[in-house]
This record gives sequence, C-alpha cells and structure tokens, in this order.
Amino acid sequence: MMSDFQGKKAIVLGGTSGIGLATAKLLQQAGAEVIAASRRGHLDEECPGIRVDAVDVLDRDALGEFFIRHGPMDYLVNAATGGARATGPFLEMDLDGFQGSFAKLWGYTNSVRIGGHHMKAGGALVLVSGYPARKYGPGYIAISTVGNAVEGFVRGMAPELAPIRINAVSPGLIDTPMFPQQGPARQRFLEDGTRHHLVQRAGKAEEVARGILFLLENEFVTGTVLDVDGGALLANP
Ligand SMILES: NC(=O)c1ccc[n+]([C@@H]2O[C@H](COP(=O)([O-])OP(=O)(O)OC[C@H]3O[C@@H](n4cnc5c(N)ncnc54)[C@H](OP(=O)(O)O)[C@@H]3O)[C@@H](O)[C@H]2O)c1
Repeated sequence: MMSDFQGKKAIVLGGTSGIGLATAKLLQQAGAEVIAASRRGHLDEECPGIRVDAVDVLDRDALGEFFIRHGPMDYLVNAATGGARATGPFLEMDLDGFQGSFAKLWGYTNSVRIGGHHMKAGGALVLVSGYPARKYGPGYIAISTVGNAVEGFVRGMAPELAPIRINAVSPGLIDTPMFPQQGPARQRFLEDGTRHHLVQRAGKAEEVARGILFLLENEFVTGTVLDVDGGALLANP
C-alpha cells in the first residue's frame, strides 16, 4: 500500500457511507489518521482506526466548530450528497426541489470556505462531481447543473488556493447506499443505468476512492476533474 499518507491527517465529510467511507478506509489503510463525518456520525460498518464525528455540512457554525476540533489537516475530501436530488423535466419540475438539489454545492462550498482556513501547507482537497455534469440525459438537469457547478468551482478555486491543491473526481454510476432500491429492483436499476457505460457494470465505491487517493497524493495535479466513470462519457446515447 502507498506510504505517502503516513503521518498525514485526512478528514472525509460524507465519510460514513459509499464513496466517502471507501475513501476513509483506503486512507486509513495507507497510514493516514482519518476522521470521517456525516450528519448521523456513525459508520455503515465497523472500521477500527477511523474516528467518527457528526456534522451537517450545511450548518456553517457547526462546521466551523468541527474544523477547530479536528484541524489542521493535510487532506479534506467532501463526498457528502448534501440532501435530496430532484429528477424530471425542468419545465415541469418543482422549483423548490430543483433548488434543493444545490444543497450538495452549498455543502461543498461551505467546507472549502471554512475548512480552507485549516489546511496544512502542502495540503489537498477533493470534491465529488458526477458524470451527468458533462453527459446530459432526460430528467437529469438538476444533477447536471450541480455537477457543472462543482467542476467550475474546483477550476475557479485552484488558483486562489494554490499552492494548496483542489480537484474533483467524477464517478459513473456507483453501487452505493445513495440508491435505496433493494433486491431485483436494485439489480435492474444498476443494469439499466450502466447499459451505456463502456464498462458494462456499476462501479464500486473503492474504485472511485482510488481515484480520490491519486488526486490527494499527486502533488502535480490541481484544478482538474478525474473521470472514474466506466467510460460513461464516451458511450452512446
Ligand atoms: N453513487 C453514484 O452513482 C454517484 C455517481 C456520481 C456522483 N456521486 C456523488 O458521489 C458523492 C457520494 O455519493 P455516495 O454514492 O457515496 O452516497 P452515499 O452512500 O449516500 O453517502 C453519502 C454520505 O454523505 C453524508 N451526507 C449527506 N448529506 C450530508 C450533510 N448535509 N452533511 C454531512 N454529511 C452528509 C451521508 O451521511 P448522513 O446521511 O449521515 O449525513 C453519507 O455519509 C455524492 O456527491 C454523489 O452525488 C455518486
């Protein structure tokens, strides 16, 4: 396992489930001191060695206290979904739902605005976009718009934060608890969703986490978006 993470402190927001949890586990295995946090503040599975705390990334006061409690840190990953995601045609959409989808963006911007003051020299941040940011499909306007905003935010922030680095990872469809379906319905959902990924299966949270570790440890990468998406952008339609 990589050793660049020995002696480093990493905070993973949204780190109790899915992509965030997989990232927290890989970082801990690579030797980092890891704090994983979410609103619930407990992990989906037993992970000795990972410290867990509760914070809502939309609560700026609580986030400020959180970073005072746990900073300074070398690495900050925010993989929190933030809240609900609206789907459906825009002209028929409940606009409150559409605006509610931006909770993810506000959670990310809060964490960079507040956590940015607690980064150690040489530190790095990673946010999570998603393939609909650059692949538009019917019903996904809210997710596409928010993903675009996350990617634009990363590009815009890289010069301001330098030499601290900031990047985004953009996953394809990943089999995580974000999707509540169970049993055969889940299987169908994942198969339908990945029909047009070049790699014809859903991704694993750990595959995205490996991309995140690359972005954290490679000191020559900033202001970029790494697609870990099974070729979703290149596939038709
Ligand atoms: N899975 C996919 O196919 C996919 C594809 C493209 C992009 N993404 C993106 O990848 C990221 C991670 O998704 P995932 O699939 O790993 O989802 P997940 O398994 O549902 O995990 C989401 C995590 O975010 C935390 N969270 C949600 N709202 C929060 C808030 N307001 N404050 C603090 N923590 C919060 C959740 O815990 P609590 O509920 O306890 O707060 C949980 O730990 C998201 O940005 C998602 O949009 C996912």
